[in-house]
Amino acid sequence: MKPRVVVTRKPPGDSLDRVNQVADVWVWPEERRIDRDALEEQIRDAVGLYSMLTDPIDEALLDLAPSLKVISNMAVGVDNINLDACAKRGIAVGHTPGVLTDATADVAWMLLMASSRRMTEGVDQVRNGDWGPWDPLGDLGYDIARTTLGIVGMGRIGEAVARRSIGFNMDVVYSSRSEKPNAESAFGARRLPLHEMLGIADHVVVCVALNDQTRHLIGRAEFQAMKDTANFVNVARGPVVDTDALYEALTSGLIRCAGLDVTDPEPLPPGHPLVGLSNCTIVPHIGSSTWRTRVAMADLAADNLIAGLSDLPLPHRVA
Ligand code: NAP
Ligand code: GLV
Ligand code: GLV
Repeated sequence: MKPRVVVTRKPPGDSLDRVNQVADVWVWPEERRIDRDALEEQIRDAVGLYSMLTDPIDEALLDLAPSLKVISNMAVGVDNINLDACAKRGIAVGHTPGVLTDATADVAWMLLMASSRRMTEGVDQVRNGDWGPWDPLGDLGYDIARTTLGIVGMGRIGEAVARRSIGFNMDVVYSSRSEKPNAESAFGARRLPLHEMLGIADHVVVCVALNDQTRHLIGRAEFQAMKDTANFVNVARGPVVDTDALYEALTSGLIRCAGLDVTDPEPLPPGHPLVGLSNCTIVPHIGSSTWRTRVAMADLAADNLIAGLSDLPLPHRVA
């Protein structure tokens, strides 16, 4: 009998065909996040779980799944999974590093530029028929070239964001748990304590993983440490930032503007105060959202799952 696999959302591409050859696969049939009830029901005799970042995989869920051997998250971030609980049960956890680095770094730059050059305000003016004659003082934003880029968390994505700054002649500063000699030699990046780094960066880009140590890493004190002209970008996870402190910073002039791909809560409800701010550009968690990237993520997720079902080492196991 083939082992049972639960897939919480249909992935792009045809990688599930490979999983079908070795497993009895159940896929959540709807085009929305799986209901908790359905997941609790389906997981009971599952040996493999193919999950999305929107699925909380907590101890209560794992308790329902005594046969579970492998969880393959179709994301690089695994903050939705209780890793300690998985380790305790000997469940291998896989993720999809690398293949989404460039796409996500591109979105960081899209937001960095849109936010500093006030793109959404300009687009709205044109759409609303408010585009007046060229104005020497119109829509003034702030420079990107020859400014200082600050990276919070110099991992794969942080490094790719920094690499893109070379053409803009920027100075790169970063704060990171560990030293990054590659980034230092490749882009002259300088590692500084967080507050010191925030004090000199014109553009701050958050690329750090979310975990117990980084939750609310950026709060009121960190916005206070930033320049009052700072442009703040988050492409990591919403809860790395204290949303109330961000709102206060944007409305009190502590910082000038922000560009967000991720928020807390996510999705942001339409009436949320951040949504109405003209100096806050928000897109709906689209960092990895290109066809090539999402298909590559689905492929890696299938590789991890298939390996785990056969008790082989996962090609991309979470450390
Ligand atoms: P990565 O290479 O593992 O980088 C993560 C960075 O976070 C590393 O610099 C790591 O420090 C740092 N870090 C982790 N835990 C820390 C802690 N407790 N204290 C201080 N620093 C810590 O991962 P990545 O591929 O660049 O992805 C980074 C994150 O981006 C993911 O975790 C995910 O949440 C997010 N993401 C978002 C999107 C999107 O669609 N917006 C797409 C992909 C990823 P070390 O280098 O010292 O380990
Ligand atoms: C996307 O946010 C990911 O973590 O892959
Ligand atoms: C602007 O369009 C210029 O020509 O300076």
